[in-house]
Amino acid sequence: MKVAPSLLSCNFMKLEDEINAIEDAGADYLHFDVMDGMFVPNLSFAFPILQQIRAHTNMTIDTHLMVQKPERYIQSFADAGSDIITVHVEATEHIHRALQLIRDTGKKVGITLNPGTPIEVLIPVLHMVDLVLVMTVNPGFGGQSFIQECLSKIEFLNEYRDEHQLSYEIEVDGGVNNVSAQYCIDSGADVLVAGSYFFKHDDYSIPVRVLKGE
Ligand code: DX5
Ligand code: ZN
Repeated sequence: MKVAPSLLSCNFMKLEDEINAIEDAGADYLHFDVMDGMFVPNLSFAFPILQQIRAHTNMTIDTHLMVQKPERYIQSFADAGSDIITVHVEATEHIHRALQLIRDTGKKVGITLNPGTPIEVLIPVLHMVDLVLVMTVNPGFGGQSFIQECLSKIEFLNEYRDEHQLSYEIEVDGGVNNVSAQYCIDSGADVLVAGSYFFKHDDYSIPVRVLKGE
């Protein structure tokens, strides 16, 4: 199990210390949430912060683009230092092209979907991706409650991967805590994103251990 703290909930006044502490605690990815105020009703951060984080750490930067027509920015996120670039299937009319554009940058290719979107829409492109992010809240804000009904999507992705000999990672994002993490692990998740639950601890090795099921 991998753990990906969502920087949305970190202390930005101490960003360097936060990143060092996340790394020392044994987390695997830095989850970087980009919001455009159009695809989701909130704004977050983008290139200047990403570039500075990239200059400071070798951790895998897992970029979650909650952005309308993300193909406009894929090259810029690759250049700014993302390792994984994940786009929403709902955010573009041309998801196949968007995934191809990410592949062309040499970065890992991620796809994601909102809680209200059926998992079957991903089937035509699942062979193209390195990671599938299952949203278990409606994207836009940290600190929301886990939507249980999304667990069946994790199970589907797990079975589909076996049946078709694919190798994408299954990542879960939204409302992940000590309780919901266990449901995700049981359903077949590989990577857990956690924001509010992770950063409420003083010692980040605790949520890392709990989320890894240790
Ligand atoms: C929500 C973001 C999440 C968020 C998770 O739109 O994609 O990554 O930061 O926060 P928690 O873990 O608090 O639900
Ligand atoms: Zn996210």
